[in-house]
Amino acid sequence: MIHIKTEKEIDLMREPCRIVKDTLTFVGTKIRAGMTTKELDTLIERFIRSEGAYPSCLGYGGFPASACISVNEVVVHGIPDDRVIREGDIVSVDLCAYKNGYHGDACRTFCIGEVSPEKRQLVKVTEECFFQAIKGLRAGTPLYDIGYRVQKYAESFGYGVIRSYTGHAIGKEMHEDPSVPNYGKLGTGMRLKAGMVLCIEPMIAMGDWRVRILDDEWTAVTVDGKPAAHYENTVVVRTDGVEILTL
Ligand code: MF3
Ligand code: CO
Repeated sequence: MIHIKTEKEIDLMREPCRIVKDTLTFVGTKIRAGMTTKELDTLIERFIRSEGAYPSCLGYGGFPASACISVNEVVVHGIPDDRVIREGDIVSVDLCAYKNGYHGDACRTFCIGEVSPEKRQLVKVTEECFFQAIKGLRAGTPLYDIGYRVQKYAESFGYGVIRSYTGHAIGKEMHEDPSVPNYGKLGTGMRLKAGMVLCIEPMIAMGDWRVRILDDEWTAVTVDGKPAAHYENTVVVRTDGVEILTL
């Protein structure tokens, strides 16, 4: 079921999205080599709650933490634990906040200290995939143009586009229809409508795009153990473009 948001609903979504953005900015000031992903998660939970919001990931489908923290070869849904963040790691922090009856959702991949040029480029290109995807995007654009643009850009660097996870619409639920894949055929899929609120989230691997789920039933790692990056914003589809709520 697709929910087109009214202007009033979009205004209600600004606050959770602003909190997500501010939390990620806060993460940028705190994340450092030597800390565990669990320690970072604790800081994130405290920050989101101090804003009067709820960390939507906590308890979602049984997820045991407030943020997904995915290091290097972990693509998505890394469970915060005793893993120590090290110099040279790339760390994706994906989080949601719930307030005013709505969710906001975004992700950034952080480079810890001196990171290899290869990994640095992966992080940069993943972010650029998002901006490629929203280029020219507006009401009337075919849905799979988003994935087409992400895939075309990522593959031009020889990277793999993760297939088994996608972006999604968002609102009163964290995951609403439609799904927003990061691959696709130009000119196909439903036409986007003004008032749709979408999470566009390229997940890009340095090598093979296939993933494997660990025994914890959450952690998705690349099959070849090569690093992956993730970048996400919540955006509103407008008649003349998109409005990014988490930047
Ligand atoms: N923020 C993630 C997304 O982009 C959701 C993570 S699943 C959870 O869809 F269980 F951790 F919440
Ligand atoms: Co999302």
